[in-house]
Amino acid sequence: MKEATDVVNNSSKVALAITGGISVYKVAEVVRLLKKSQIEVQIVATESALNFVGKATWSALSGNSVISSIWDESENVSHVNIAKTAQLVVIAPATADTLSDLAQSKANSAVSALVLTTRAPIMVFPAMHTQMWDHPGTKANIEILKKRGMQIIGPASGPLTSGDEGIGRLVEPIEIANLIIDFFRSEDKPNILITSGGTREYIDPVRYLTNSSSGKQGLALAQQAVARGCKTTVVSTEDHHGNWDLVKVTSAHEMYKMVMEQAPKNDIIIMAAAVSDWTVREPRLGKIKKGDFKFNLELEATEDILGSLGESRKPNQVLVGFAAETANTQQELVEMAKEKLERKKIDLICANNVSDGKIFNSDETHVYLIDHQTATDLGEGSKLATAGKIIDKSFEIWRLKQ
Ligand code: CTP
Repeated sequence: MKEATDVVNNSSKVALAITGGISVYKVAEVVRLLKKSQIEVQIVATESALNFVGKATWSALSGNSVISSIWDESENVSHVNIAKTAQLVVIAPATADTLSDLAQSKANSAVSALVLTTRAPIMVFPAMHTQMWDHPGTKANIEILKKRGMQIIGPASGPLTSGDEGIGRLVEPIEIANLIIDFFRSEDKPNILITSGGTREYIDPVRYLTNSSSGKQGLALAQQAVARGCKTTVVSTEDHHGNWDLVKVTSAHEMYKMVMEQAPKNDIIIMAAAVSDWTVREPRLGKIKKGDFKFNLELEATEDILGSLGESRKPNQVLVGFAAETANTQQELVEMAKEKLERKKIDLICANNVSDGKIFNSDETHVYLIDHQTATDLGEGSKLATAGKIIDKSFEIWRLKQ
């Protein structure tokens, strides 16, 4: 948990919108943690949120009266007032119904009216049953909200109230609170460039070589960087929209060109992408036919993006790499990653053991964070929480270099 002293800005104000899902009770803890960090909290609720936890709890915890209707405190036009004065709007939990209202730009509740009126950044923490989350309607709503610049964080996986297991849980209260606290930290913020996803090397117009990267770790890093108020650029093979500049690429060579173009404008560069080490020497223009027995796949090496950054970097820039290794022991993993750290002339490397096939495409990970002095086991945890620790360590190195 961040200390209250980290939040230097005394007028930090968050509008915390709560909607009607069972996990709303966990948000009471978020309010407590924010108040402890001297962040002013204004609760805006849908009527159904108050069916789970009533107004008295929210006003006692936040120290402010709760707005649950656009008719509440109508003499102050409260939803407009809150929308104008909050520096950040957070919706937690965001139910499937609320996501649908927001995607349609409705103003039928205090929460939807607030979202329509505010120009502050918006963080959304969805929570619902897996089947609702997986529904194409919910997916389409999420895409609309992302394209409007809202930051969608979670949901997490695990046991659900229905007794089922799966994706749909609200992100842990401590993680929600930390993201909000980081947003309000007032200090110089580095510009951050993050790469994510697995590159594709085309063999012919329909076939390609790739790897198992889902881009989830890169996405979590971008969310944590934005949450700390950093100007963030994401160079990715995935359509991961958010409050950052997205540069979409396909191949290793395209990623190389875009990263080298963006690098001088950035203070911290994190290469979370799984970049292909080889590309096809001469991709065919037409589809290769089944009977083309004479066809041989000739490969050539791609540019080492991180290695090139290590050669051309500014001295106060921080370079962070990933090492996904099939190691037999933790010691072997750390040694392999250290060799990469030295060879690529970078500052920090995040090592994963992928020998059991876990981690790729999972929401969970297990990272060893290795710099030139230390190797730290971050333990098993969500990619979001791990991303927060990687960003914090990168910040620490960056501050020391200034
Ligand atoms: N990387 C890169 N450019 C490449 C290959 C990898 O920038 N062409 C980056 C990855 O994004 C990662 C780090 O380098 O951050 C390590 O990637 P990895 O594939 O493990 O390293 P390699 O140098 O390819 O070494 P090897 O495959 O031999 O283990």
